[in-house]
Amino acid sequence: MIIAIDGPAGVGKSTIAKALAQKLNFSYFDTGAMYRAATYAFIKNSIDYENETKVVDFLNNNFNYYFKEENGNRNYFVNDEDVTEIIRSTYVTDLVSKIATKEYIRKILVPLQRQYAENRDVVTEGRDIGSVVFPNADVKIYLTAKASVRAERRFQDYLDKYPQDFASFDKQQILLDIQKRDEMDSTRKFSPLKKTPDAFLIDTSNLDVNGVVNKIVKIVKKKTKIKFSYRFVKKFFLFFLKFFYKLEIFGKENIIEGKSIIISNHVSFLDPIILTQVFDEELNFIAKKSIFKKFFLGKIIKILNAHEISLNSPNIKTFRIIDSILKANKKIILFPEGQRSEDGQILKFLPGIGFLVNLTKALVIPVYIKGPLEIWSKKRKLPKMFGKIKCFIGKPVYFTEFEGIDKEKKVEYINAFLEKNLKDLQKKHY
Ligand code: DC
Repeated sequence: MIIAIDGPAGVGKSTIAKALAQKLNFSYFDTGAMYRAATYAFIKNSIDYENETKVVDFLNNNFNYYFKEENGNRNYFVNDEDVTEIIRSTYVTDLVSKIATKEYIRKILVPLQRQYAENRDVVTEGRDIGSVVFPNADVKIYLTAKASVRAERRFQDYLDKYPQDFASFDKQQILLDIQKRDEMDSTRKFSPLKKTPDAFLIDTSNLDVNGVVNKIVKIVKKKTKIKFSYRFVKKFFLFFLKFFYKLEIFGKENIIEGKSIIISNHVSFLDPIILTQVFDEELNFIAKKSIFKKFFLGKIIKILNAHEISLNSPNIKTFRIIDSILKANKKIILFPEGQRSEDGQILKFLPGIGFLVNLTKALVIPVYIKGPLEIWSKKRKLPKMFGKIKCFIGKPVYFTEFEGIDKEKKVEYINAFLEKNLKDLQKKHY
């Protein structure tokens, strides 16, 4: 899980991100320190940061940045030199905002930041985390505070750290510096500091660290909480599917967390219920109006986040519903055949699936369900008491695989590709 915290200088991002990471038992990642470390390395090695060729060569070949945790303290290193203190010095601080405006520098540092967060629960903070580095972060927070409050906090910070230099601190100058950095960070051409529409705004002017952390923890809990009724129904059916049908799931390592479209073959009313067991996350799916009217099934599918839409004729409403589910970083199940297959053969996909994948550019996870045909085929009124169900999760299909394909043919191509993909999964496990 990724929690992205952005905001201007002096808003308390580092303190809050550290405290939050500790509270949630997540890793903490301060991207500003990376820009600072690069700035220090340029100064030390007399590299003119305006010289793109030299800078790129240096960062690619001679910039080994890492950090170590010891006794609860974190130390930052560049090429094995401990730079923890020096990257906070005024001569680095004065230059770093200029360096961070350079696109050729960001292009190298951003992938390193992404690499760090791979397969980790992490609280990461900076200026462009929610907008550029992790646009799909699970929770995005944007912190603000009045410039005067931020200047006062910086001033207190300096006093705590260097009380002997009291006379040299000028509050007015600190405020001016903060305003200058705000201006530079938010007006630069590449990855400027900005709040994305899906980020939660927290004004920290009148809150202490605990107050802000508690607010974020509440947001995280709300975002990740699986509805009680969903969990209850899921648990109930897990028992039912394991006891009567010996449910087995294969290929869980292919699951990618966060937003994606799940496509699956469809032979029985059990299919959506089976799929809720395959994924730990809360799922959404779509169903025909007639199913909502069924007495028991209608109630169950509502609890399992069914939305009433059709793939037969996808329209703007269908698209909006699916898009908002994906934007919330959630998963949706689509049965692209549009109906239950009577004999288990995968039917021709409806064009809606290609259309939706093309519009949302979402990742697709194929799942082949084997067994429900014998248990509850279209011809049977009620399911058989016993049987065997196996689920096979295929490799995710990334939208990038469809890039470069002629616009006119893209929807058709995606449809055919995904249909073949699911059929291949079926063949492999038939
Ligand atoms: O958060 P900080 O003061 O340590 O950041 C140092 C500088 O790096 C600051 O001028 C903004 C810049 N920065 C950035 O451009 N993008 C980030 N993700 C993090 C920091």
